[in-house]
Amino acid sequence: MIEKVWAMYFSATDTTKTTVCRIADKLTEVFACEKGECDFTYPEAREKVYSFSEHDLVVFGTPVYAGRVPNVLLPFLRTVCGNNALAIPVVLFGNRNFDDALAELRDILSEDGFVCTAAAAFVGEHAFSDVLAKGRPDEDDLAFADQFALKLAAMVCNGTAKNRIEVPGESPQSEYFKPKGPDGNPIDIRRVKSYVNENCDNCGICAEVCPMGSISRADVREYTGICIKCGACVKKCPQKARYYTDKNFLFHREDLENRLTERGECSVWL
Ligand SMILES: Cc1cc2nc3c(=O)[nH]c(=O)nc-3n(C[C@H](O)[C@H](O)[C@H](O)COP(=O)(O)O)c2cc1C
Ligand code: SF4
Ligand code: SF4
Repeated sequence: MIEKVWAMYFSATDTTKTTVCRIADKLTEVFACEKGECDFTYPEAREKVYSFSEHDLVVFGTPVYAGRVPNVLLPFLRTVCGNNALAIPVVLFGNRNFDDALAELRDILSEDGFVCTAAAAFVGEHAFSDVLAKGRPDEDDLAFADQFALKLAAMVCNGTAKNRIEVPGESPQSEYFKPKGPDGNPIDIRRVKSYVNENCDNCGICAEVCPMGSISRADVREYTGICIKCGACVKKCPQKARYYTDKNFLFHREDLENRLTERGECSVWL
């Protein structure tokens, strides 16, 4: 008997949040139960320990970074206690591929004590770009999310929901996806950071939305920690003042934009 449906997610540019909340809202409606929300995008939320029970159903989402679950989240993810709650791992990817990310999220949640009964991979606007998978998840994606939730609810109600969902991807996972530079060799963009131009009016939004807490509030041109290139500060800057100059990063972004022009499919497993 499901008593509470949770939307739990990390979402720097809101595509995971939108998708996970839509699935959770539909499930809440069908089960006519309570809804909970746990947003662990910001550092303070990742200091708490979250614990569930067998009466909970948790729609659990992360973006895909380099074909995997973002590695900065791993220490936090291992602290979550499933206690046999049902979980739906959901990953959002930017029209390239989710590679091993969904299998990895399913494995982590299983190790946390969740029963992963279904899973989904949805397309979201790419964090590096404002044209790649632009505007996704869109209305069609969200209608697909509704259908997924309805089918899942029916399976939970009639007792046919799975005890462990099989999904594509290696388990255990091996490599992270490595982007390539103009010469075809792998590039390392881990140290790349954006710069700030003269349009900046010091509103401080970029510092507020950084999931790593890495932009100085006193001077938004300064970094106080690592940058994971999540795109939040760039996309949420009202003045469009943040920009990249790194040649390899710019090449990779343009290469993705030029190659991945076809609409990527969302997929679900039940
Ligand atoms: C560091 C980084 C690596 C990424 N790697 C991939 C990838 O391997 N495949 C892909 O399709 N999208 C990739 N993306 C795009 C994100 O998965 C996509 O934009 C997602 O919708 C972002 O989720 P959010 O809006 O919840 O933050 C990457 C984004 C970032 C920031
Ligand atoms: S969000 Fe943009 S305008 Fe506001 S402080 Fe940051 S860079 Fe400046
Ligand atoms: S500084 Fe880096 S980690 Fe922080 S919001 Fe900007 S892109 Fe994301």
